[in-house]
Amino acid sequence: MLNGKKILIGITGSIAAYKTILLVRLLVKAGADVKVIMTPAAADFVSPLVLSTLSKNAVITELSNNHEWSNHVDLGRWADLLIIAPLSCNTMAKMANGFCDNILLAVYLSATCQVLVAPAMDEDMWKHPSTQQNLGRLVSYGNTIMPVGHGELASGLFGEGRMAEPEAIFQFIISRFFRGKALAGKTALVTAGPTYESIDPVRFIGNHSSGKMGFAIAEALYMQGAEVFLITGPSNEKIQFEGIHRLNVQSANEMFNQVIPLFDQVDIGVFSAAVADYTVEKPSSEKIKKNEGSLAIHLTKTIDILAEAGKLKRQDQFIVGFALETENEKANALDKLKRKNADMVVLNSLRTAGAGFAGENNAVTIFTKLGDEISIGLKSKKVIAEDIVSIIKEKFIVQA
Ligand code: CTP
Repeated sequence: MLNGKKILIGITGSIAAYKTILLVRLLVKAGADVKVIMTPAAADFVSPLVLSTLSKNAVITELSNNHEWSNHVDLGRWADLLIIAPLSCNTMAKMANGFCDNILLAVYLSATCQVLVAPAMDEDMWKHPSTQQNLGRLVSYGNTIMPVGHGELASGLFGEGRMAEPEAIFQFIISRFFRGKALAGKTALVTAGPTYESIDPVRFIGNHSSGKMGFAIAEALYMQGAEVFLITGPSNEKIQFEGIHRLNVQSANEMFNQVIPLFDQVDIGVFSAAVADYTVEKPSSEKIKKNEGSLAIHLTKTIDILAEAGKLKRQDQFIVGFALETENEKANALDKLKRKNADMVVLNSLRTAGAGFAGENNAVTIFTKLGDEISIGLKSKKVIAEDIVSIIKEKFIVQA
């Protein structure tokens, strides 16, 4: 998600510095190259060792170290984004007035990239006219301010001035600075996960789908600027972005009832859910008791959501199906593409060791209705999702 992005994080002296440890972790996990700069006061609150370990880069604390000069100009030009979190009242005042008495301020003054600051202070300090004036100056210099939160403060008082939570800062960073625009203005729908078909109030027929692939596709579409609706069966996966509209369903029928009314307003539909092909004809309203004999449960076919969307599809819409085959893979995938009127089918390879339903990795082959056949070798589901979305983007734009 942030692969290849270079992020500088400046930490100043505030109790909220402990939250920045988690922010560094989130950014590194998302693929960013992170370097941390600390003011002398910051080291009283968090250990540089923790931050160098998490960021995998030496922490920068001085303008010169062992007679070596830290090149603040190079650092300022290296970064795609400089984040100062937490921003103390003192550093805010210095930034507002062009002071340069530590490495962080020197980097800030020479940075050519965008700057995000996440202030942290007590409510009275936050509301003081001088703080508000300094904040106004930072905005006028083109810096972006992360809104402060309301809650318990270091003083024990409740009020405004808490630094935003690391997850919220992470989401803000992605949405504001790194979300692509290729699919801006477009709406996408993604189905994901398994479906559960009830046998009685405590039992169901389900499958081993984790939902990982569908969630990763929803996130990759969101990262390209699309508005995303994720309609998912039961899954333990968490969606990273609050901006994605998640609708939880249980059964194939519930999924169908969510997808079809929405379909008219979407530009792209990705049907990655492992929808049950059969459901229980008459689920019992009471728990079925065991008895001596065997038990037969009568199953009926579910509605094929992808095929129904295929029937409704307009020229300007693009839909993607998934196929999981154990034999005649290519022929079956091509048959599904045609039969369900899809524009693209993603064939999950069961033959590649390490790829599959529940794991972290996958390997797929993509077939399009224009005759393309594109193989993507074993990679993490997140990376495969990004590859799939860039192919969708390319083919959808060609079609439009
Ligand atoms: N699908 C769906 N609704 C269903 C069944 C499947 O939307 N009731 C979608 C899946 O999300 C997937 C594609 O159809 O995108 C392929 O599903 P699959 O069950 O593999 O294909 P079938 O056509 O049902 O064929 P078979 O199970 O015989 O392979």
